[in-house]
Amino acid sequence: MWRRPNVHLTPQRGWLNDPNGCVIVDGTWHCFFQFNPAATRWGPMHWGHATSPDGLRWTQQPTALAPDPTLGNCYSGCAVSTDDGLALLFTHHRDTHEQQSLAWLRGDRGELEGVVLPNPGRRHFRDPKVLRHGDRWVMTLTGGDRVLLYASDDMRRWTPLSEFTHPLDTLWECPELLNIDGQWVMVVSIDTGGPQEGSGVVWWAGDFDGTHFRAEGDPTFLDHGSDYYAPQSFTGTQLQIAWLNNWRYANEVPTTPWNGMLTVPRQLRWADGLRQTPLSALADRREPGLGDTLDIDVRPTDAGEVNIHFTEEERARVTWDDTHVTVDRTRCGGRGLQGFAAVHRAAHGGSPGSLRILVDAQSIEVFAADGSLTLTDLILPSGPPTGVDVRGAEASLWHLTVGP
Ligand code: FRU
Repeated sequence: MWRRPNVHLTPQRGWLNDPNGCVIVDGTWHCFFQFNPAATRWGPMHWGHATSPDGLRWTQQPTALAPDPTLGNCYSGCAVSTDDGLALLFTHHRDTHEQQSLAWLRGDRGELEGVVLPNPGRRHFRDPKVLRHGDRWVMTLTGGDRVLLYASDDMRRWTPLSEFTHPLDTLWECPELLNIDGQWVMVVSIDTGGPQEGSGVVWWAGDFDGTHFRAEGDPTFLDHGSDYYAPQSFTGTQLQIAWLNNWRYANEVPTTPWNGMLTVPRQLRWADGLRQTPLSALADRREPGLGDTLDIDVRPTDAGEVNIHFTEEERARVTWDDTHVTVDRTRCGGRGLQGFAAVHRAAHGGSPGSLRILVDAQSIEVFAADGSLTLTDLILPSGPPTGVDVRGAEASLWHLTVGP
């Protein structure tokens, strides 16, 4: 029996990939997601739907969007809360044809209004995400090797604005333009060439004048673990959530009766660079000591390590020294998954700072260097944590309670 994560969204049954339509309306968090209800592998894409009072405890709702016999499957997209209700903008994908459609959440089902942005002749033309800019909507989409920007006053008529590209020899997916504390940032998921091989996420700082995004310099990885993909912000906030997986082995992940989880939402901020902190509501659920879901504060005094033990053979290890932070998941299950048993290493650029380590049933999320370095990894231990040992640091061990 696979244990379920406590503070991470999973579908009751079936497959989940990208978060879609993330939005908070009147205090209720909505997260839709790429969903195949019929199998624990990727397949005909639906939009699953879950709601939460706090971004941590999720309840699955009826499936919001299902494949359309003519227009095809429902690929990634976003949601916007309007006076007319919750607008869902997403890609209809049929064979190799992709175009953008608009639906409305009526009750707990999505009601299709129709296609709002037909394909101009591109092989890749998907994953719309919108932000409010001045008095109009600006949409980012992937064009395969570039971000396409469009604008609209009403979300129904979209006009092209510009394109943003950079020589990266990989497939671009799920782009998002963000304004973080006044700083423009372009986030793009890349299908290959991630920080630990397979998929990953890059971002550029830059400037957006309402029409063009111009990057300043080269892209940086958003997360340095293996399992952070297709992040999306909750529309109008600086909170971001991502799929905690890697396309390299996602279809082979053995959890049942579900496959796929999202990260804990992260607060993004700009302070001399992009920084990430786990959702502050986690702190309200902390109890001292060991439990199923751990939240560990680590204050390094020297180079050192934290070992989280599961069974006799299984442990996850986080280490730091004066140059790097690593996550070692060579003894965390996952035998047979391509490239899974590995040590993930990332430079912290000066000091590891204080570390925060979150461990749930199949995940480890490490925040270091004041949020400027994160490592997110899937782990597949066969039991709950049984002990934690620490070397070279002072640490506080908490577990997180769920329930109401
Ligand atoms: C990213 C992605 C998107 C697409 C969706 C299909 O993981 O490939 O580009 O819309 O997943 O499920």
